[in-house]
Parts: sequence; C-alpha cells; structure tokens
Amino acid sequence: MQNNPSILVLDKNKNSREVIKGYLEDSGFAANIELFEDYSAGYEKLKTLDNNSIVIMDITSEHDDIIKDTTEKIRLYTSKLIICSSDYSTNTIVKALRIGAKEFLPKPIIKEDLLRILSRLTNIEEKDDENSQAKIITIYSNKGGIGKTTIAVNLALELAKVTKVKVALVDLNLQLGDVSTFLNLTPAFDVNYVIRNMLDKDESVFLKTFEKYKDTSLYVLADPSYIEQSESISPQQITELFKALKKVFSYIVVDMSANIDANSLKILDCSDWIIFTTIVNIPAIRNAQRCLTLFRSRRYPKNKVKVIVNRFMDNDEIKIEDIENTLGENIYWKVPNNYFTIMEAVNKGMSVAEINAASNVANNFRDFASKVSDDIIEQEVIKYRI
Ligand SMILES: Nc1ncnc2c1ncn2[C@@H]1O[C@H](COP(=O)(O)OP(=O)(O)OP(=O)(O)O)[C@@H](O)[C@H]1O
Ligand SMILES: [Mg+2]
Repeated sequence: MQNNPSILVLDKNKNSREVIKGYLEDSGFAANIELFEDYSAGYEKLKTLDNNSIVIMDITSEHDDIIKDTTEKIRLYTSKLIICSSDYSTNTIVKALRIGAKEFLPKPIIKEDLLRILSRLTNIEEKDDENSQAKIITIYSNKGGIGKTTIAVNLALELAKVTKVKVALVDLNLQLGDVSTFLNLTPAFDVNYVIRNMLDKDESVFLKTFEKYKDTSLYVLADPSYIEQSESISPQQITELFKALKKVFSYIVVDMSANIDANSLKILDCSDWIIFTTIVNIPAIRNAQRCLTLFRSRRYPKNKVKVIVNRFMDNDEIKIEDIENTLGENIYWKVPNNYFTIMEAVNKGMSVAEINAASNVANNFRDFASKVSDDIIEQEVIKYRI
C-alpha cells in the first residue's frame, strides 16, 4: 500500500486550498501535501514526483481548453487525478471523467467523501482488478457473416481516436479470427501466447505483446496462430485475460465467433456491454430473438445488451419499429449499408475512415464511438448521483 503519496492541490481559491489541507492533515495524509494557486507550477512540481502522486484539481472557474490541456499534461505523470467543481451538473461530471479524471468531487468538499476517494486511490496497487472504469465491449451475433469484425475493428479504432485513451481490440474468434487481416497487421504475439506467458507481467511488458495501430491508442491482440491452440484455452483463462486487460486498457473491444460454447458464454458473461448485431432479414431476426432469450435467461442487467442493426437501408421493407416490436428491444444504433467502402477497407486492410473519411459509414462509426463512450461515462456518473 502506498501510505504516503504526494498530494498536490490545484485550486485558485485560497480558503478552499486550506480547507482541503486541513482535512488531509486531520486524517494522517500530512506528509507530502502541496498547495498551488498556479496550475502550471503544480504541474512542474508533479513532473519531479513519482507516478503515485495524487492531484486534486478544481475546475470551477477554468476554461474548457485550459482544463483539457492541464489534464492531458497531468495524466502523463499520474492517473490519480481527482477533479472537483462547485458545478456538479451531469455535464460537468461527464466532462471531468471524459478528460480522464479518476474521480469527481462536488464542492464544497465533504471530508468523508475526500477520504473515501483517497483511500480508494492509495490502495489501487493492491487490488488486481481495481480499474472499475475499464469496460469490455463485445460485438456479438449468433449468426456468422453479419458484420461483427467490421464493426469491432472500426468501432475500436474510432473509440481510440475519440477518447485518446488506451483501447484494446482483442480477437477472441479463437478459430477463425481475422482482425489482423482487417487491419493488415502481422502481430508477433497472439492471445494464446499472452494467456500463457504475460498475464502476470507489468503494464509496459504486457503492452509489448500487442500490435499498436499506427499512431493511435489502439492496441490489437490477434487470435491464436494455430487452431489446436484455441482448443486448449479454457473459460477460466478467458476470465484471467480480461482481468489483466482491465488493468491496462480503458476499453476492451472484443470480436468473437457466432458459436455458443463454454468460452463464448464466458466472454459474454464477462462483458460489460454486448453489442448484439443483426441485419434486416427474417432469418437474422429469428436468430436474434433466440439469442436475446438466452441473454434474458442469463439474467444480464438491462443495459448490458445493446441491439444494433448492420447494413441498414432506409428503404428496407422491414422497418426498425417492426424489428423492435419483434425483439422487444430498442435498436441502439444503425450502421448503413455501404458495400463498396467496406469491401475496399477489408481488401486493403484499413479502417473505413482511412478509405473514405467522408463516407456515410466512416461518419457513422465515429458517431457510434462517441455515443458508446458518452453512454458509458453517463452510466459511471450515476455512481455520483446516488
Ligand atoms: N455495413 C456494411 N455494409 C456493407 N457490407 C458490409 C457491412 N458490414 C459488413 N459488411 C460485409 O459483410 C461481410 C461480413 O462481414 P464480417 O466479416 O465483418 O462479418 P462477421 O460477422 O465478422 O463474420 P464471421 O461470422 O465470419 O466472423 C463482409 O464482406 C463485409 O464487407
Ligand atoms: Mg468475424
């Protein structure tokens, strides 16, 4: 346990700085507290400290650009950033979490809240799976060829671009994975290797087994090189893989096969979100019905499963309302049909945005990623509203 992390308080208001200092001193955090009115000075100090330092930053009267810029710099040196503000509207909390705050505190700060958060942050190293904000988003359909890989690849890349945080794209289609083909990568390592050798390694070593996609924050983990290797991966190992991934990445996007077997069920059970994909035709919708019944029988929480429609066309004979009525679920998102852009992207091993950034599908995937990250953050905000 880190008993004595340095704590830097960045706050324009002198009284507020002193109150926070008083709370910290009363509670045994006395050793290394420093107060800053000037945020740049605070940041310069942070650079000289180890990466367990905690920063408490007030954003009440700061401009968005300054907040964003300061936060980005702070996060180069520590992830333990607590943002506080007298404005604790949902918008402000979402803004704070989106730019990378680990915690949000409404002002005036209540001593017990501050101490609870500090004790959580100072104990992070001890708890293996502490990064509760990390989310596993699995793209699934119980039907093959529906667009799972297309969606997983483009959503993961856009999530990395929109959020700038580390996103893993993990190919758990253990026998027929093609994520690396979709992105024209030849990874040196794969899921099988990582499961067997890397789960107990430090973040920097662990990350080396992923293929970083160009200059983005997307890291790709390929499916096993040999089919027989996939057969020896157990559900327990999948749980352990996810646990290790959650320590390092903010979003873990999973592509998988259409099969329902023990490993698939484990992947689905472990996922925070299942993006269940269907297309507009009767056999696909019938399959979707069966699968959603299975999910209900597993008692997944209501907002875990998001149904989306791929290859959507305005003039489809079957309307979205018909699908919603049949499935008893709202359609969360629609990805338009665009055969040529998507085929070209697959054939060239690129994302659709790289093929044609102005295309309807490229715009759609970018907006989809923004919605997913906003909705995930909003679910987190509920925590602060209880
Ligand atoms: N929105 C779209 N518009 C047009 N074509 C699409 C769209 N999405 C996917 N496709 C095409 O559908 C085919 C299947 O896509 P993909 O490989 O992503 O499906 P999958 O569900 O991952 O398949 P599998 O079950 O084999 O893993 C591909 O040829 C792809 O180009
Ligand atoms: Mg696929």
